[in-house]
Amino acid sequence: MELNYPSIGFIGAGNMATALIRGILATGYPEDKIVACDPSVEQLDRLADTIISHKITTSLDSSAVNHCDMVVLAVKPQILPSVAKQLSSHIGSDTLVVSVAAGITLELLQSYLDGRPAVRSMPNTPALIGEGASGLFASKNTSQQQKDSVTEVFKSVGIVEWLGSETDLDLVTAVSGSGPAYFFLFMEAMVEAAVDMGLDRETAHRLCVQTCRGASTIATQNPDIAELRKRVTSPNGTTEKAISAFENGDLRALVKTAMQDCADRSVEMAQEVANKD
Ligand SMILES: NC(=O)c1ccc[n+]([C@@H]2O[C@H](COP(=O)([O-])OP(=O)(O)OC[C@H]3O[C@@H](n4cnc5c(N)ncnc54)[C@H](OP(=O)(O)O)[C@@H]3O)[C@@H](O)[C@H]2O)c1
Repeated sequence: MELNYPSIGFIGAGNMATALIRGILATGYPEDKIVACDPSVEQLDRLADTIISHKITTSLDSSAVNHCDMVVLAVKPQILPSVAKQLSSHIGSDTLVVSVAAGITLELLQSYLDGRPAVRSMPNTPALIGEGASGLFASKNTSQQQKDSVTEVFKSVGIVEWLGSETDLDLVTAVSGSGPAYFFLFMEAMVEAAVDMGLDRETAHRLCVQTCRGASTIATQNPDIAELRKRVTSPNGTTEKAISAFENGDLRALVKTAMQDCADRSVEMAQEVANKD
C-alpha cells in the first residue's frame, strides 16, 4: 500500500523548525514533501548543514508553502499575527496550520486564518535533541487524519500529548515547556552545594548530570516515582536525611507555587498578545 504523506511547509527555519525537519526526515519522510522558508540566507544554510544529505525545498519567500497540506508557523510569537494573516490569503481553505508559538490562542490564530483548521502546540527545548515533550490542542474542524499527521511530526522529536482542553496548554507550559529550566536550576544548586562542601566543580558537574540522566531513565521505566524515591531512601540513612531537609523546607509547596506562577504568566501573556492585536 502506498503511504500518503501530506506536504509540510515551515515558515521560519530557526531552532524549532530545524529540530522538527531533522526529526521527520529521520523517520524516512520524503524530502520532496518538505518546504522551509526563512528571510535569512544564513538560517537556510544552517538548516541545510544540519540535515546534511537530505534535499528539501527552501525559499526566502514564504509563498513557497502556499500549496502545502500543512503549514507550521515556527516564528516568534510577536511576528506570528502578521505571518498568519499574510498566509491566509494564499493557502487552501482546508490547509492545516500548526503554531509552535506560546501564548497565541486558537481563537486568535483562527481569526487570522479565516477559520481554517489549526493546532496549537507547546514543545520544549529537548525537542532540539529529539527528547522533547509536546502538548497539542486542535480546533474542532481539524480532521483525525490531520491530527495524525501532526502527531507524526512532533513524535519525531519526542513524546506527544493531545490535550482535552486548550487551557491545559498553560499547564503543559508549567510542566514540560518551562520544566527543563527547573531541572537545570536544581542541578546548578547541587553543583554549587557540592563545590561549597569541597568537591571540585568538574567532578561535581559530571556526577550531577549523570545522576539526573540515570534517575530520569529509571523513571521512564517505572511510573511510580514515589516508590522509586522510597527504594533509595533507607530508614535512618543518608538519603533520608537529605529528603527530610527538602520536605521540612516545604519543597513541594515551593514547586507548586512556581508552577502556578508559570501557568498564570502563560494566561497573562496570551491576554497581552490578544490586547495588542
Ligand atoms: N526553541 C525552543 O526550544 C522552543 C520551545 C517551545 C516553543 N518554541 C517556539 O517556537 C517558535 C520558534 O522558536 P525558535 O527558537 O525556533 O526561534 P528562531 O530560532 O528565532 O526561529 C525563528 C525564525 O523565523 C524567522 N523569521 C522571522 N520572520 C519571518 C517571516 N516573516 N517569515 C519566515 N520566517 C521568519 C527568523 O529569522 P530572523 O532570525 O532573521 O528574524 C528565524 O530564523 C517561537 O514561537 C517559540 O516560542 C521554541
